[in-house]
Amino acid sequence: MRSRHMADQRTIERLVIFGATGDLAARMLLPSLYFLDAERLLPDALKIVGSARSKLDRDAFVTHVHGVLERRPEGLDEAAWARFSQRLDYYAADVTKGEGVEAIAQCIEGASTVFFLALSPSLYGAVAKALGDSGLACGDCRIVLEKPIGHDLESSRAINAEVAAVFEEKRVFRIDHYLGKETVQNLLALRFANTLFEPLWNNLAIDHVQITVAETEGVGERWPYYDEYGALRDMVQNHMLQLLCLVAMEPPPDAGADSVRDEKVKVLKSLRPFTRAEAQGASVRGQYRAGVVDGRHAASYAEERGGESGTETFVALRADIENWRWAGVPFYLRSGKRLPERRTQIVIQFKPLPHLIFGGAAEEDVTANRLVIDLQPDEDISLLLMNRRPGLAGTRLQALPLSLSLDNGGRRRIAYERLLLDVLADNPQLFVRRDEVELAWAWIDGVADTWRDLGIAPKPYAAGSWGPAGAFALLERSGRTWLDE
Ligand code: BG6
Repeated sequence: MRSRHMADQRTIERLVIFGATGDLAARMLLPSLYFLDAERLLPDALKIVGSARSKLDRDAFVTHVHGVLERRPEGLDEAAWARFSQRLDYYAADVTKGEGVEAIAQCIEGASTVFFLALSPSLYGAVAKALGDSGLACGDCRIVLEKPIGHDLESSRAINAEVAAVFEEKRVFRIDHYLGKETVQNLLALRFANTLFEPLWNNLAIDHVQITVAETEGVGERWPYYDEYGALRDMVQNHMLQLLCLVAMEPPPDAGADSVRDEKVKVLKSLRPFTRAEAQGASVRGQYRAGVVDGRHAASYAEERGGESGTETFVALRADIENWRWAGVPFYLRSGKRLPERRTQIVIQFKPLPHLIFGGAAEEDVTANRLVIDLQPDEDISLLLMNRRPGLAGTRLQALPLSLSLDNGGRRRIAYERLLLDVLADNPQLFVRRDEVELAWAWIDGVADTWRDLGIAPKPYAAGSWGPAGAFALLERSGRTWLDE
């Protein structure tokens, strides 16, 4: 199907980045495009057109991009830069307005175009409309939208509807950059290219699942955005629910875009809505106070923001998936800023042994099997297995990890490299479909509304700690612990 569809497609010859002088373009998009070009992976005719309100000319933009790339740890290869810089162009414009969009029309010249909106989501609708009105959204042009699509279900539906009025769904690419990470894609291979796990991947063998996305950085200068969203909307609605879906979904018939997305949608539909009765026991909100991270003093969120705020910088939740496979298996999610280490990790905790045949001290040694999938900063998979401790004394046991490192020693790609290539190739598998986004918002709204209605405010935690005490109690209540404890 895909190859036939692709055969109908013209090669993309323009990539227009709206918000080209912003943070996302500097940190992710421009470096990704540069690396792809250095490996000769971009179409020869592709022009990269930056656009923003900043009144730069082409030369000033090229100098800006040079500076951005030069400051990266990888350094700049002069030959690759010479080639890449030829592709660059720039138009200063307010693209929420017809005249602004007209200004870029001259560089498109009827070419197949991808429009990348590295802008505030509140502008997506207006930009899509301006593109439609000016006739630039025609044919096989595509639009790329960054998360968050909206602030809740209602605003997300409104944005999706405004975009859908101009671009049909198959031309809308919603980015969740976690899906572009090699290790996240590997979850599908681990689950569905091995026979070993699938028979055990259910409530008969698995006790619970932990998903942690911990960051040492604070919110810093991003607070105007962050304060409106908080950890729940910034991390759980998208990245963490995507990880949960990949762990929990049924085997799809194939790896095609809709096959995989259909299965993820079923998981989202099976999430038990958050209830008021359970809210206190099933969720924790936190906000960092001053503390020490990486041996250095870290200011509180309120200091960074210049005043008190009711926004959470830490969240821990218990999610329950109501279907045959997962009934009774809690999924514990936690994510926060200013935690003691950077770690993105999935822990599949298997059930305790039904019966131990070894008596005596061996009883103290026994640990239930556990599969630990480290996604960042290390890329490792480790299966904890019980073994006998060698020796002549009575039987003693030891837990030993069977480890697999996914680090091939090469440069770690930016997730956007994969995603940008896929947009150019018209492959939507790693992009989030409209129904997925909206179902995720519906569940998140349940949490946010409950917090609001019950007046649940963020609890303080010291920067450099693993969040408020409630995050530990969340698991301890059922006799479980987070892996780092
Ligand atoms: C972004 C969030 O989507 O993901 C940030 O807006 C967060 O707040 C970032 O820091 C984390 O991404 P990564 O790839 O560094 O884990």
